[in-house]
Amino acid sequence: MNAPPNITDHLVLFMPSGKRGRFAKGTTILDAARQLGVYVESVCGGRATCGRCQIEVQEGHFAKHKISSSRDSISPVGPKEARYAEKRALPAGRRLSCSATIEGDLVVDVPQDAIVNAQVVRKDADQRVIERYPAVQLCYVEVDEPDMHKPLGDLDRLKAALGKDWGFNRLEADAHLLSQVQGILRQGEWAVTAAVHHDDEADAARIIALWPGLKNEAYGIACDIGSTTIAMHMVSLLSGRVVASAGASNPQIRFGEDLMSRVSYVMMNPDGRQAMTKAVRQEVSKLVDKVATEGGVERTDILDAVFVGNPIMHHLFLGIDPTELGGAPFALAVSGAVKARASDLRLNLNPGARLYMLPCIAGHVGADAAAVTLSEGPYRQDEMMLIVDVGTNAEIVLGNRERVVTASSPTGPAFEGAEISSGQRAAPGAIERVRIDRETLEPRFRVIGSELWSDEPGFAEAVQATGVSGICGSGIIEVIAEMYLSGIVSEDGVIDGALAERSPRIFSEGRTFSYLLHEGEPRITVTQNDVRAIQLAKAALYAGTKLLMEKQGVTTVDTIRFAGAFGSFIDPTYAMTLGLIPDCELDKVSAVGNAAGTGARMALLNRNHRREIEETVRRIEKIETALEPKFQEHFVYAMALPNKVDPYPKLGRQVTLPPRKVLSDGGTEGPRRRSREERAARRRR
Ligand code: FES
Repeated sequence: MNAPPNITDHLVLFMPSGKRGRFAKGTTILDAARQLGVYVESVCGGRATCGRCQIEVQEGHFAKHKISSSRDSISPVGPKEARYAEKRALPAGRRLSCSATIEGDLVVDVPQDAIVNAQVVRKDADQRVIERYPAVQLCYVEVDEPDMHKPLGDLDRLKAALGKDWGFNRLEADAHLLSQVQGILRQGEWAVTAAVHHDDEADAARIIALWPGLKNEAYGIACDIGSTTIAMHMVSLLSGRVVASAGASNPQIRFGEDLMSRVSYVMMNPDGRQAMTKAVRQEVSKLVDKVATEGGVERTDILDAVFVGNPIMHHLFLGIDPTELGGAPFALAVSGAVKARASDLRLNLNPGARLYMLPCIAGHVGADAAAVTLSEGPYRQDEMMLIVDVGTNAEIVLGNRERVVTASSPTGPAFEGAEISSGQRAAPGAIERVRIDRETLEPRFRVIGSELWSDEPGFAEAVQATGVSGICGSGIIEVIAEMYLSGIVSEDGVIDGALAERSPRIFSEGRTFSYLLHEGEPRITVTQNDVRAIQLAKAALYAGTKLLMEKQGVTTVDTIRFAGAFGSFIDPTYAMTLGLIPDCELDKVSAVGNAAGTGARMALLNRNHRREIEETVRRIEKIETALEPKFQEHFVYAMALPNKVDPYPKLGRQVTLPPRKVLSDGGTEGPRRRSREERAARRRR
């Protein structure tokens, strides 16, 4: 046990954790950090050779913390540290915490970017700094040579050295190392680096890999398996840096576009499950090759892997039959976090590499939603936060520190451009932004791949290569919202045929009307059916959200986060104008990109985040929309733009919403239309 702090000891505050304590003069900063539970990387065990334990001393008076810190309060650079700085170039202001000792009060910054080897830094991953406490740690030790008088085996002496230098009480070793340990110890002349996996305090730590001498870098991968795309980051476990990222289409698409058709494929084909498991694992393996090549890393240097995905992707990747997820009660084979060896899934990484899959929240709300929840942390704050991840199934999370509830809602593929007459995936040439003149009803638009609006000089040349090929998900949201704001579409979602007299853009197609967005090849129009498809999708999303708001007893939310690719491109003003999301201050609505990938990286880099999300998922309340009688009612009200009953005062302050205008839909009366919508809602569920 540590001696109680003496009042004459010096006060040391570690940032960014804010942990503080008093330590005797001469204590190394690394020791102080360890005593306070501040994670400072160290591979060489304080020998001043790995350079991983870098810190910076902050200078000045920190009134909030009642502490004055100066570089004079740290010991001068000693010979070992000078030797390292000379060999490996220590950045200005940085010190090695294993050598520098406490000589006065200090504020110590633990930088999360201690670069030792030159690394390629990728910008496409979220640049969030994740405090590190990885499940796999590299530990350099010098092991006693064999002694005839003490017949302890080589592995046992290695364990003893790791116990002594690194404090592991219970230490096991992977069986695949038994045949290698003697050779590696001799090759390293009794100095070796062990990779020790210690995910959960309750379990024994395990030696999973071994190298002769000092091994000073190790990597992990964080991978989000989506039904359409798979995204992977390779991350240094020692510095937290993303060194390479890659993405690919999910090859399971050839078995079925959406999730349910893939479940059907499994049910209809005897080898369906095996074929899809093989396909996704092969693609994951190709991505590993890609990130390893791009980062200049050997596959054997990858020691840990975190995967997230929706329940069906999760099951298929693990080799589990997803048939049970195809219908009520949507039973998961396993809902808790999955821990395995990467080799169990035939992932060819280091033979000892480990794998962790985040827990699934429910049969419809998977490990990807858990990762988004970990990334955005509604449970870490007081505001009522709504997180919406729009795909063919929208996953919705609502909560704060007190309580978190979740549901999934069957939005269908309309938001991704499917079921829309001119719809397409987001790709160069797709219309993504639309404005309609309120007087003339003339549109202008922008397509993916060009910054120019269609009425600007040079537009035709700029899109010559791609053409104007269709409308993507964000484009369809904008064009329908603009049609509503221009009075072309009524509150009930009917295209106003009377306007055909005012503008040739509105034209009759049988019993309904359409809007001509672009006269070209192809001719791009928005039909009455397109508007209906978006109404059905957004009503399903809103009805799910509304159920969660009722469970929470709130009528408004404080913040809204759009997760996923769709959310990154959607303009919050238009999403709210159409009523996809509840009324909210527009500056409180933001896109969070690949939040599932960020959550996976957090679980990769810090084992405490694994416990945090496991505990949170146990507490999250799941709402099954199919069983909630009020879903139908909310759905019907949400068919209106933005909503039949719920007000949008905050949106109304930013956008001039048109006066109410209710039109009949091709002769359909109100009550009849409502029952048709209800039937549609039932069909979708
Ligand atoms: Fe390795 Fe300080 S712990 S240099």
